[in-house]
Amino acid sequence: MTDRYAVIGHPVAHSQSPRIHAEFACQTGQSIEYERLLAPLDGFAATVARFRAEGGRGANVTLPFKQEAFALADRVSERARRAEAVNTLRFDAEGVYGDNTDGAGLVADLECNLDFVLGGKRVLLVGAGGAARGVIPALLDAGIGELVVANRTVSRAEDLARAFAPRLEACAFRALAGRKFDLVINATSATLSGELPDLPAGLYAPEALAYDMMYGKAEMAFLAAARRDGASRVADGLGMLVEQAAESFLLWRGVRPDTTPVMRMLRGS
Ligand code: ATR
Repeated sequence: MTDRYAVIGHPVAHSQSPRIHAEFACQTGQSIEYERLLAPLDGFAATVARFRAEGGRGANVTLPFKQEAFALADRVSERARRAEAVNTLRFDAEGVYGDNTDGAGLVADLECNLDFVLGGKRVLLVGAGGAARGVIPALLDAGIGELVVANRTVSRAEDLARAFAPRLEACAFRALAGRKFDLVINATSATLSGELPDLPAGLYAPEALAYDMMYGKAEMAFLAAARRDGASRVADGLGMLVEQAAESFLLWRGVRPDTTPVMRMLRGS
């Protein structure tokens, strides 16, 4: 029997995950099926339970259910525990195991695909929601020199500073004026509503990289603004998407696929 996996979200129709996992399966000779499951906003747990009962072996979890997936898992990995969010579920004899591969995906994209060395770097993370929190453990573990989290609602950044004390500094947007960073990561959902975080000018150090964790046309607005503000390089989150998927595939199937051809395929289409 073919093993079944799914991505569960709301909305989920736009998800590239089925395409990515189909490519991984083909490349590694694994026989899997991977589908999209739209869960009602109040029906995440029921959707997971039904999929398990039907024989599902695991799932990716996307917005807005990552915190709920963390609560639902019987056991979680250390990185999921620190992120308090789960994007990968594996169903086995011992129950539901939860992991978070977002941070590893981001770090792999930065270091392996973009050749950006994180060691010692000054990093600004813009946003303090679930997307930001999910990648903080991996950024800290990558040996960065400094991590500042800036958020429109500064109290949410302060909550993160407390959770990851003393390795993270919380900041309001306007308090960033005069500071420079080697890497600026947009982890806000501002571009979804056609807006940009209201950041002061002059944030980019020489050779700095601007990174948007989202991908697609709308996200180009943040990167275009970053270029105007002096970023030497810009990158969207497509590489992170493919790398986090590869980490999920590894957890489920015990083999890590080659991400380069899959990224090339997605960029080409
Ligand atoms: P996610 O799980 O995607 O992180 P979230 O928890 O709703 O979703 O967080 C969204 C993030 O985008 C928050 O940091 C939010 O800032 P606030 O905490 O101040 O709401 C940020 N965000 C959304 N729209 C924004 C905008 N127009 N300008 C700046 N930040 C914005």
